Amino acid sequence: MKERPPERRRSLGRRDQDRAFEELAIQDAFVALTDGIILTGPDGFIVSANPAAFRVLGEETLNGRPFEELLLVTGAATVQDADGHHVRRTWFPREDRMGVLEIVSTSIGERGVLHTVRDVTAQAELLRLKEDFLLQVAHELRTPIAALSATLDLLVDDALSMPPAQLMTMVSTLRRSALRLEHLVENLLDAGSIEAGTFQVRAVPASVRSCLQEAMVFTQMLLDSKHQRLEERLRPDSDRVLADPRRTAQVLANLIANASRYAPENTTVTIVTAGRDGFVQVSVVDEGPGIPADEQPRLFQRFFRSREVRDQAGGLGLGLTICRAIVLAHGGDIRVESEVGRGTSVHFTLPKARQLAEEAGA
Ligand SMILES: Nc1ncnc2c1ncn2[C@@H]1O[C@H](COP(=O)(O)OP(=O)(O)OP(=O)(O)O)[C@@H](O)[C@H]1O
Ligand SMILES: [Mg+2]
Repeated sequence: MKERPPERRRSLGRRDQDRAFEELAIQDAFVALTDGIILTGPDGFIVSANPAAFRVLGEETLNGRPFEELLLVTGAATVQDADGHHVRRTWFPREDRMGVLEIVSTSIGERGVLHTVRDVTAQAELLRLKEDFLLQVAHELRTPIAALSATLDLLVDDALSMPPAQLMTMVSTLRRSALRLEHLVENLLDAGSIEAGTFQVRAVPASVRSCLQEAMVFTQMLLDSKHQRLEERLRPDSDRVLADPRRTAQVLANLIANASRYAPENTTVTIVTAGRDGFVQVSVVDEGPGIPADEQPRLFQRFFRSREVRDQAGGLGLGLTICRAIVLAHGGDIRVESEVGRGTSVHFTLPKARQLAEEAGA
């Protein structure tokens, strides 16, 4: 490890009293810090560690052994060694699964080495998901673009001599590919604006039924291509909502697209509505493979895709994230109910329009 040029803590208090107070504050900070701090002496043994370090690494692990030995055992790898900071990453067991730990070691001269220990599992996961995501975007764009250009090639050569029925088939392939591209780009843009915090909805009195019709413009083709059927069980008394019609159609389109994509051929997708205390609950129910319970809490996370389907069907892992942002922006909520082998239901709620009108009139 390279030696750091000496740096001193800057003391701002001038009076002795201020300095004593500062010392105490620093001691408190050592205990309260959410990052783990470990101090090793010149012999490499741990001299002191704060509660966060114990929480991450465990008290038994830290007590009475050289810190470097611990890092050796866990297979820590150097990711950076510059400006006097030696940065390493290693795996460590967390409550639920293995996590990634980042250790920054800084020499403090003859007194030893100061190590900051931080759980960077979430960042590491996000980075990996983003890398996969870029590949997936390219892959997802390639399929409709390839279909578009292959169909256009055929049309350029033979459009004038083609029987009308064949021409129609070609045109609907073109339309399907164009819609797929539009849907992908829209999801990408929306994910960007959700991330930037600029995502908005404009709620007006709207009908769930007509939003569903709009959603079907895109999803009917998906269902048809897998010989799936859509069943509507919309109760007339739970049709009027206060919602952004285009966005609501987008939620339905994303949920129906999932139901169609992940369920086998010849199955039924059912849309059910029900009244719920001033809200309308809309459910999209499928007869697909279901989602393992341990994966359910992560479904609404950006880029997340179940291990069950990752290799079978394309997708970017954005649909549910966007659905959730849209539903929350309306003041509703969204949840998944699923069991492996027994299908999946996604339920979301939107404020009832009539109820709000009545309240306003009261
Ligand atoms: N109806 C469903 N049945 C089974 N698994 C589902 C269902 N809906 C969602 N999933 C799982 O949740 C994951 C996330 O869904 P989400 O809609 O967010 O992304 P995606 O469908 O993979 O990609 P896209 O961005 O194209 O929608 C899916 O990859 C799949 O693993
Ligand atoms: Mg999806």
